[in-house]
Amino acid sequence: MSKITFSVIKADIGGFVGHSSVHPDLLKVAEKYLGEKGKDLLIDFKVSHVGDDINLIMTHKKGVDCEEVHKLAWDTFLECTRLAREYKLYGAGQDLLSDSFSGNIKGMGPGVAEMEFEERPSEPVIVFMADKTEPGAWNLPLYKMFADPFNTIGLIIDPKMHDGFIFEVMDTVENKLMKFSSPEEIYDLLVFLGAFNRYAVKAVYNKKGEPAAASSTQRMNLMAGRYVGKDDPVMIVRCQNGFPAVGEALEPFANPHLVSGWMRGSHFGPLMPVSLQDATPTRFDGPPRVVALGFQLSNGKLIGPQDFFADKGFDRARQKALEIADYMRSHGPFEPHRLPLDEMEYTTLPRVMEKLSQKNL
Ligand code: 13P
Ligand code: 13P
Ligand code: MG
Ligand code: MG
Repeated sequence: MSKITFSVIKADIGGFVGHSSVHPDLLKVAEKYLGEKGKDLLIDFKVSHVGDDINLIMTHKKGVDCEEVHKLAWDTFLECTRLAREYKLYGAGQDLLSDSFSGNIKGMGPGVAEMEFEERPSEPVIVFMADKTEPGAWNLPLYKMFADPFNTIGLIIDPKMHDGFIFEVMDTVENKLMKFSSPEEIYDLLVFLGAFNRYAVKAVYNKKGEPAAASSTQRMNLMAGRYVGKDDPVMIVRCQNGFPAVGEALEPFANPHLVSGWMRGSHFGPLMPVSLQDATPTRFDGPPRVVALGFQLSNGKLIGPQDFFADKGFDRARQKALEIADYMRSHGPFEPHRLPLDEMEYTTLPRVMEKLSQKNL
């Protein structure tokens, strides 16, 4: 069988209400549109959401960066935008930065994570989707999944994983890619991964060059030069048989690490793992959420999803996240709850500062 391409493309088309969720009618529009217009192009698809972001999960045989698939996603979002405008949803069309499609959806606002691979006899895949944060939020969990034996015992006891993995890291400011081999270069790798506001893991490969993980790494505010919300990233992780077990891929989220995003994209807060039903960030527009949908691929068909974080095993992580949220919130407008000034550059704060500097002259 020829290779399968797994594409996840997401956009904020307008929030219901505020930035908290997606209106169910928009999901119906997306489903109908993809079903009709994608019937000759896609093998299968699912329309999902996290917070105010619509996620199109698609399989096909056209390879990554396929113009037809990207255009289909773009047109689906445009179709949703029409209804979002009619309903006057908040920030309708927020993530569509351009008026017309230009060949590749990357750089136009929506987030894209894609990989192409030979489907194995059994192919478990997890799609992670986050809201109220940015691509660097995946750095810590990806490091744990693919490089930390305290998280992934398979790195030690599975001969298929024992050689380690290659991390491809994107400098989101300079738009440059770097590669690091784990475990040999983990200290070098961590120089960059720790600075998650700027550097984000784009992809992970095994040492045979087969894709293991892919994430969306675009920074909309840098592209637009103004605040247009956070980038609310997505990530695809292949599991089992030489890749992390499903439980090893989920385990990093048992500790809700601090990410940037939350209210007005301007605060540090815990990334709380939740079920699809609970992916509705409301407290101070958060705290940031992550959902994990599991699929078994069957000749490209998406069998699933399994809503992993609905599991009771993550109850304590949620409780911990809420405690951290209380603590961080108690700092109000003070750093390190609020992001440092250089990270506030693409928010509305510089406009306030400009006004104040004129007043005091
Ligand atoms: P506005 O109320 O001006 O939209 O700013 C808050 C916000 O939600 C930013 O996206
Ligand atoms: P989104 O990036 O999810 O639209 O959130 C923007 C925001 O300002 C939340 O307070
Ligand atoms: Mg929004
Ligand atoms: Mg969002």
